[in-house]
Amino acid sequence: MPLQKKATLLIRNIGQLITMEGPVPRLGNQMNDLGLIKNGGIALAGEEILAVGESGNVEGKVDLAEGCIAIDADGAVVTPGFIDAHTHPVFSMTREDEFEMRIAGKTYMEIADAGGGIRASVRDLRETPKAILTKKTIERLDTMLANGTTTIEAKSGYGLSTESEIKSLEIINNLNETHPIDLIPTFLGAHEVPDEFRNNRTGYIDLLINEMIPKVAENKLAEFCDIFCEEGVFNIDESRKIMTAAKKRGLKLKFHADELGASGGSELAAELGAISADHLVYISDKGISAMANSGTAAVLLPGTCFSLGLKHYAPARKMIEAGVIVALSTDCNPGSSYTESLPMIICLAGLNYKFTAAESISAVTVNAACAIDRGGQIGILRPGLAADLVLWKVHDYRELPYHYGVNLVHNVIKRGKIVINRKLS
Ligand code: NIG
Ligand code: FE
Repeated sequence: MPLQKKATLLIRNIGQLITMEGPVPRLGNQMNDLGLIKNGGIALAGEEILAVGESGNVEGKVDLAEGCIAIDADGAVVTPGFIDAHTHPVFSMTREDEFEMRIAGKTYMEIADAGGGIRASVRDLRETPKAILTKKTIERLDTMLANGTTTIEAKSGYGLSTESEIKSLEIINNLNETHPIDLIPTFLGAHEVPDEFRNNRTGYIDLLINEMIPKVAENKLAEFCDIFCEEGVFNIDESRKIMTAAKKRGLKLKFHADELGASGGSELAAELGAISADHLVYISDKGISAMANSGTAAVLLPGTCFSLGLKHYAPARKMIEAGVIVALSTDCNPGSSYTESLPMIICLAGLNYKFTAAESISAVTVNAACAIDRGGQIGILRPGLAADLVLWKVHDYRELPYHYGVNLVHNVIKRGKIVINRKLS
């Protein structure tokens, strides 16, 4: 049957068309299933995908609109646009001084306790005008897009006052309207206790519960609420109190959990029905089975261990074997992981988690969509879904982790528009 809409963009001769068609989420061994079509083709109509299949079949069944752009992929790989389910992109000052301090032997927590870390970023963000913060955030979004990311979850968390948290969330919401990348806003007021509340922790927790969370929820500034649940930041009891208040206000939950030690954050995330718990470097066996049972996605962030120079990585294979939904993200932030590149994260997951390239691609597409509560809506190339896709300069998808540290993107297409067009080299 001929299709009603006409194609506005057609890519033919795709050596490996990775559709991700198949189960959502991908659990266990299903993560190796890429819904791969050899010698594929894909046709787009405006912002949507029109047809996906074998190249000749797609060409045979679509009518071309006037001015239709045709791309010959010459045997290269196409994937869905990547989804970065955990980022902290709104900040101005970078913290390369801390990177050097860690190389010289200081730990992340020692630097934080001495007033550096998140609190240093907070002092800077509060003083930085919105226009400058917006410009810096756009630079990071541009780099993400150029590296194949088309949707991100974006956290506040460097304001830690009602005014500057709202400032950060407004930037995220505005950029969602103006930048090609889709941004999903998360309120992370519980990222740290700011300087002025160091001797009055309960005062800050009261502010979070009685003022910040209600304002963010009422004004629909964020979809998710996140917390740094860690000994020395917010402990389990404090986290339960704050996150229960957020849930009551209709915010969905995410956790920074078990990142630097086994604090039981993953169990709490599962208990409260969180959409995701992230980091999980020190997750316990109990935490793993709790997350498998609650369907809470694990967002793993190997860039953090890598950039902090830590030897211990999350027990990722154990989580896959236990049936946890596993996603991968950059954790792009100025402290523990300053990268916008999901391909770099795919390389780190291969080396440190022993993930196959296919498992990692599942983790940044279908499973990352689940980690932001959009399972089945994005991260799949299927007629009727948004046309977010990447044409890579590789002929085998396994090159993505293997050929590391350089940009392998040829084209990025967001909602049917070519937003990145790099030369083949
Ligand atoms: O995800 N763990 C807490 N937050 C960030 C680090 C933030 C920072 O150091 O600025 C993270 O690692
Ligand atoms: Fe983080």
